[in-house]
Amino acid sequence: MSDHAKLTYKDHSVDIPVVVGSEGEIGLDLGAAKLRDQTGMVSLDVAFKHTASTQSAVTFLDGANGILRYRGYAIEDLAERCSFLEVCYLLLRGELPDATQLDGYRRELNRHTLLHEDLKRFFDAFPKDAHPMGILSAAMAALSTFYQDGDTEDPKAVELDIYRLLAKLPTAAAFAYKKSQGQPFIYPDNSLRYPANFLRMMFSFPTEEWLADDDICNALDTLLILHADHEQNCSTSAVRLVGSGHAPLYACVSAGISALWGPRHGGANQAVLVMLEEVRRAGGNVKKAIEKAKDKSDPFRLMGFGHRVYRNFDPRAKILKSKADMVLNKLGVHDPLLEIAKELEEVALADPYFVDRRLYPNVDFYSGIIYRALGIPTDMMTVMFAMGRLPGWIAHWKEMREQGQPIGRPRQIYTGPNHRAFIPLNER
Ligand SMILES: CC(C)(COP(=O)(O)OP(=O)(O)OC[C@H]1O[C@@H](n2cnc3c(N)ncnc32)[C@H](O)[C@@H]1OP(=O)(O)O)[C@@H](O)C(=O)NCCC(=O)NCCS
Repeated sequence: MSDHAKLTYKDHSVDIPVVVGSEGEIGLDLGAAKLRDQTGMVSLDVAFKHTASTQSAVTFLDGANGILRYRGYAIEDLAERCSFLEVCYLLLRGELPDATQLDGYRRELNRHTLLHEDLKRFFDAFPKDAHPMGILSAAMAALSTFYQDGDTEDPKAVELDIYRLLAKLPTAAAFAYKKSQGQPFIYPDNSLRYPANFLRMMFSFPTEEWLADDDICNALDTLLILHADHEQNCSTSAVRLVGSGHAPLYACVSAGISALWGPRHGGANQAVLVMLEEVRRAGGNVKKAIEKAKDKSDPFRLMGFGHRVYRNFDPRAKILKSKADMVLNKLGVHDPLLEIAKELEEVALADPYFVDRRLYPNVDFYSGIIYRALGIPTDMMTVMFAMGRLPGWIAHWKEMREQGQPIGRPRQIYTGPNHRAFIPLNER
């Protein structure tokens, strides 16, 4: 018999089965114990700090030791030795592809890189200064109106939707950028690798040849790989929750993009750059920013620092720190913001406030600087994160549907008024 924990409260006593994960994580299965049915009680865990929403075989994250693995593979190995497309395949299918499988996958994906011409017109409707995350979220939801054959119960239809999403999101992202610049849309070139194709759609013009540098494409591959999954984070949980109601996959991805947008989640990479720019404009006084971040009467936080799960160095930030140097050297960019970022990191990591709270740089701290060096504008940075996170969102959505999870529907502890007598309008 498996282990049980015992919960006792007044005259209630309930045996709770213990679930042990493959890395030894322990969960109390309140669902299997039918806690509410048996006792009328529920667990209360605001912001899910102590709650696992599922069992999952996609990604392992050990925040205390700074470990991140997709399907068992260390993020360091994947970032160093794989392409983003291989990682997409790994996340979505569970295994790394061999060369033939990867080639087939790429060919399949390439059949879907174009956007429907009517969807292209859609970009004209947004104001010129629209945030590209708003455009991207709307564009992904709009795909569901163009592809209404997306039956989420049918594995073949799901596979097709996945190809479409992976292939079309970069095109939509680049179109959103081109629109904001008043430049002509550049259609995908299927002879190019995923990152090269995206960079070309972003930065080329119909008037001249344009080829992305290999090192730069590799750097973008790495960034996308590092973003590709992070288990049950805010946006992935949003995708799963919307998906649990059996909404179309496009709508679930659109919800994920919206969830990612905020500065406490994916929007932090944009917020980091805004913060570094402010420090630079104010004369580069790093210590002042640190003091502001520590001041509890000031809502300012050191952007790109701290993480809900990592209480140690974010392994992705470590990889990016060295990538940032490589990319900037390669491009011959001297970015004062990188100097400010390094100084901020040094000062914060020596400050008891950050040390005691175990606040380390997270992935967003350096990603913004690299994106900036690549020429990606600040408000497109969270879009880049979304492009990377897409396979992770879908892998979790797929896993949830394959597990047959019922609709997600948290409970609450009601704290409002008790029943009151209704007073008609003319008597109030
Ligand atoms: C990521 C984040 C939302 C995690 O939040 P969390 O797990 O709820 O952590 P908490 O907000 O409980 O933080 C714990 C303590 O550290 C402080 N803290 C956390 N991040 C901080 C930051 N970036 N700057 C200053 N103080 C911070 C909190 O004020 C809190 O202090 P207290 O214990 O004195 O009240 C938070 O660290 C943050 O806002 N970071 C900046 C945004 C960011 O980079 N987000 C990207 C995440 S990948």
